[in-house]
Amino acid sequence: MVNHEIDSNCFGHNIQSALDICPDVNSDNNFQGISVNVNTRNYILAAALGLGMAGAQAAGVTITVSCGTVGQDFEFCKKATDEWSKKTGNTVKHLTIPQSTSDILGLFRQMFAAKSADVDVISVDVVWPGTIKSHLLDLGPYAKGAEKAHFPALVANNTVDGKLLAMPWFTDAGVLYYRKDLLAKYGEKAPTTWDEMTATAKKVMDGERKAGNADMQGYVFQGKAYEGLTCNALEWVASHGGGSIVDASGKVTVNNPQAAKALATAAGWIGTISPTGVLNYGEEDARGVFQKGNSVFMRNWPYAWSLSQGSDSPVKDKVGVVNLPKGGDGKPAATLGGWQLSVVKYSKNPAVAADLVMYLTSPDVQKDRAIKGSYNPTIPALYQDAAVLQANPFFGTLYETFVNAVPRPATATGQKYNEVSAAFWNAAHTVLSGKAKPEEALKSLDAKLGQVRRGANW
Ligand code: GLC
Repeated sequence: MVNHEIDSNCFGHNIQSALDICPDVNSDNNFQGISVNVNTRNYILAAALGLGMAGAQAAGVTITVSCGTVGQDFEFCKKATDEWSKKTGNTVKHLTIPQSTSDILGLFRQMFAAKSADVDVISVDVVWPGTIKSHLLDLGPYAKGAEKAHFPALVANNTVDGKLLAMPWFTDAGVLYYRKDLLAKYGEKAPTTWDEMTATAKKVMDGERKAGNADMQGYVFQGKAYEGLTCNALEWVASHGGGSIVDASGKVTVNNPQAAKALATAAGWIGTISPTGVLNYGEEDARGVFQKGNSVFMRNWPYAWSLSQGSDSPVKDKVGVVNLPKGGDGKPAATLGGWQLSVVKYSKNPAVAADLVMYLTSPDVQKDRAIKGSYNPTIPALYQDAAVLQANPFFGTLYETFVNAVPRPATATGQKYNEVSAAFWNAAHTVLSGKAKPEEALKSLDAKLGQVRRGANW
């Protein structure tokens, strides 16, 4: 839990709040809307060495790894790195990182700018390989074909200019969590359209509030202005038939009536079935409300399943997982997420670091993480594994959703992806918070993305 202690003390959910809480860190740099600073890096490393350092005896080589995102990720990663340390005699240190992927990227970019050898192995969001390609080692010579056991689409995503820059570690897709017990109580079933979801959420929420739970909400999701909102809003837009922001050929497609309808629908939830606080929710905020028993529905990634079924969870055995709803005549859409592991080019021990990556991404480690932490494997064969399916029944029922998840336009926009995503999440946030009408927000987004496109090579 060390990593979480540091997070809650200093990094919270975004860099800005970390800067507020940690007085020795001054904000002096603004990177694509993420306020960060040069001292942050030193601070994080100090924290990692002092508190976040976990790992073994001084023997062999020391490898520093950053591998915790949300949920139990850090605990599982540490367990696996401990095993590797025992096997190899090398030592592993864990670098503590913030929770939000947008903040993690800001930090890594600072470390890359300094060509820092302070971290050897990093977790890489599925949308990053094109963006940070020049700082990652080609793992091809170390993988020796092991990548062939993984989903080809992920290997393709992680292969840039012919180099295998990252090994798939776990995949993600947005899913709808619902309260089986409450839907049964009110004679409702899991919704297949956003309109049904809205109506059921309202009915059950109102009923439960009347019955005495004043905190009951209808729907919680990730509405903060960060990458998680890009994932949610892409699902709304794509499931209304409004495309995926930028198409595969690089054309900006987001300014269309279906996208406007999708954003209008979502804006209608704020203050009705969703608390206004959702405008500042990341994954763990949504999970906190749902797992306490205070929401009928939740949009989240699969990691939330194992936690919701933990022995201490108030909603244990009361949760179902289905596809996210569709808009009108559209088709349900789940954004493709997930994490990879890479070796930083500036590592002083690239071969040992690559060995750790190969171990962490191996079938045995992925199977263990799937069973105990509901992290979706990136190896198709594990979706046939009885123990994996028993622990996560929806890995079987939603298999098609996982393999057909909608990618964010990271490949088409390359190094500009984060800028594109930030413009999109800001536009969505403006609409959700009632500061702009969907049509206006999409029109300015279109103009902004057009500018980015003209200034870039895509
Ligand atoms: C999850 C996904 C990742 C996504 C992030 C957004 O961690 O795996 O791909 O970018 O959520 O918050």
